[in-house]
Amino acid sequence: MGYGRLAAAAVMCLAGAGCGQRPVAPPSTAGTPTASAAENPARDSHSYGNPSEIRVRHADLDWDVLFDQKSLRGTATLTVSRPAGGRATRLVLDTRDLDVTKAESSRDGTSWAAAAFSLAPPDKILGSALTVNLPEDATRVRITYATRPGASGLQWLEPSQTAGRKFPYLFTQSQAIHARSWIPLQDSPQVRITYRARVRTPKSLRAVMSADNDHETPRDGEYDFEMPQPIPSYLIALAVGDIGFAPLSARAGVWSEPPVVGPSAREFSDLERMIRAAEELFGPYRWERYDVLVLPPSFPYGGMENPRITFATPTIIAGDRSLVALVAHELAHSWAGNLVTNATWSDFWLNEGFTVYLERRILERVYGPQRADIEAVLGYQDLQKEMAAVPDGDEVLHIDLAGRDPDEGATDIPYEKGALFLRHLEETFGRQRFDRFLRGYFDHFAFQSITTDDFVRYLRANLLDEGPELAARVPVEDWIEKPGLPASAPRPHSDALARVEAEARGWLDGKTPASKIDSGGWTTHEWLLFLRALPQPLDRERMAELDRAFHLTASKNSEITNQWLAMAIASRYETADRRLEEFLTSMGRRKFLKPLYEALVKTPEGRARALEIYRKARPTYHPIAVATVDEIVGWGA
Ligand code: BES
Ligand code: ZN
Repeated sequence: MGYGRLAAAAVMCLAGAGCGQRPVAPPSTAGTPTASAAENPARDSHSYGNPSEIRVRHADLDWDVLFDQKSLRGTATLTVSRPAGGRATRLVLDTRDLDVTKAESSRDGTSWAAAAFSLAPPDKILGSALTVNLPEDATRVRITYATRPGASGLQWLEPSQTAGRKFPYLFTQSQAIHARSWIPLQDSPQVRITYRARVRTPKSLRAVMSADNDHETPRDGEYDFEMPQPIPSYLIALAVGDIGFAPLSARAGVWSEPPVVGPSAREFSDLERMIRAAEELFGPYRWERYDVLVLPPSFPYGGMENPRITFATPTIIAGDRSLVALVAHELAHSWAGNLVTNATWSDFWLNEGFTVYLERRILERVYGPQRADIEAVLGYQDLQKEMAAVPDGDEVLHIDLAGRDPDEGATDIPYEKGALFLRHLEETFGRQRFDRFLRGYFDHFAFQSITTDDFVRYLRANLLDEGPELAARVPVEDWIEKPGLPASAPRPHSDALARVEAEARGWLDGKTPASKIDSGGWTTHEWLLFLRALPQPLDRERMAELDRAFHLTASKNSEITNQWLAMAIASRYETADRRLEEFLTSMGRRKFLKPLYEALVKTPEGRARALEIYRKARPTYHPIAVATVDEIVGWGA
């Protein structure tokens, strides 16, 4: 995953940024929980920025979107502040592959003076520190720059890679540390900023951002945005293309290329109900609008919680709303992640573990407990599989990522183990009590970035200390700092699982022919459980029997296809070969690319096939997906 490991010694510590050091944990006194986040900034080993000396508060962005050069060109004007008495004359920013041509500083935002700057030699993971010298009373810094065509946070699509096939498309993906490849910033999740942007595009295209999008703005090639709430840099997002809109409610809607608007609107018709359910559970939705942008298929993730406008893969448009858990997930980030943010990538589980827990609470409220249970069982299976695959150190929630690409931390551990930990707290203290705690947590830390230690301190003061006997049943330290699962961890259960497993057994034992499997009312999730209950590899003849009965090779549901194709590779079921190539060349979602390429490279013939497919697909994948697959297939090695 990611760009690969970097020896600790090779991480360059430039400009005194102190990188490579472990974040210093604030003293864990049981003091008032308010003495946290802002006062005890944790070291972020993935940023060169110096926010404790001088901090970026706001960005004014101004770009031309140059499709022919695959470049964003323009300025970032940063408003900075120093702590009381601070006299810093050196602002350190993160960049990666930016061509910086000018830096200026200003006291008042009207008169500007040239500022000396230097760009350090690049580190493979962190990029280049940009140091700007400025007078001690300067409050603004303006950087003139352009992005490079290979920027890790941008993907420039040819018309042929879009649904409409007529217009080019650009989209960003900033999490974890890719914002620096398109904006010079202190690219750390503990630096929150507001922003405004002016974006000039070809006249026929529309731009949207993680800001105040207005679908009534005329399409004239000039777009203005404002994000008035302070957000971390990894949530800054932009997309430009032939993008249309359909409303779903007064505050929610879908954006996408015109041919995809109708199907997307039908798929997400429950969106307003989800928002209401989330508000009832976790407090008011504080970002005004909630829209979903459905991207072209090369979008490397399932979804990305860009505030006010979730970015999503089209592979969740199944036609039957079966994959909308992803929308519940990204919506839940409006509380966990966007409102209360992980201060460093070591605290990533605070974003994702909370979000998975909230996602299932939303699903339960909107679709009932059976739906939430089955998602939890699938998640638990993912967790077991992941724990068997990663080294011990990566099984801890509070993970050490120093010297590594933070994208490597995005395994099922922070997601599923994190969610299980919260479920353990809920089951121990009771739902009512736990819900009160959760709501208090979101209110207390709203618009702050916090560390795992901040969370633990708040948890002790506001839940554990009130019920010491109950608290004794939850080994908090083990959950957070140790590999594996505590013996007392909850074990998700779903009635559907037993039923589906019984059918699988009956078929495997030869008691039921495939055509007699009682699958009448099975949802996508039951199909996934069924396929996962079968041994791998499976006899080729048995694969063919299932396929004849249920047309799995022809399935248009991306999750079922992914599961089935992985089985087909392991079982050398060649009937699915064409579908495999078609799937791998028609979308670039990392969650699907990774297991399928990994399954392929296990045999020499499979590896050859992987390379043959990848040679065609690689130019269509996003830089982040390319980095992942390059490593799996040994591209260029
Ligand atoms: N924030 C993540 C995506 C992400 C994580 C991007 C780490 C870059 C680094 C997003 O909320 C997410 O978790 N997406 C999942 C879907 C979800 C339903 C588990 C995905 O993309 O698969
Ligand atoms: Zn997430």
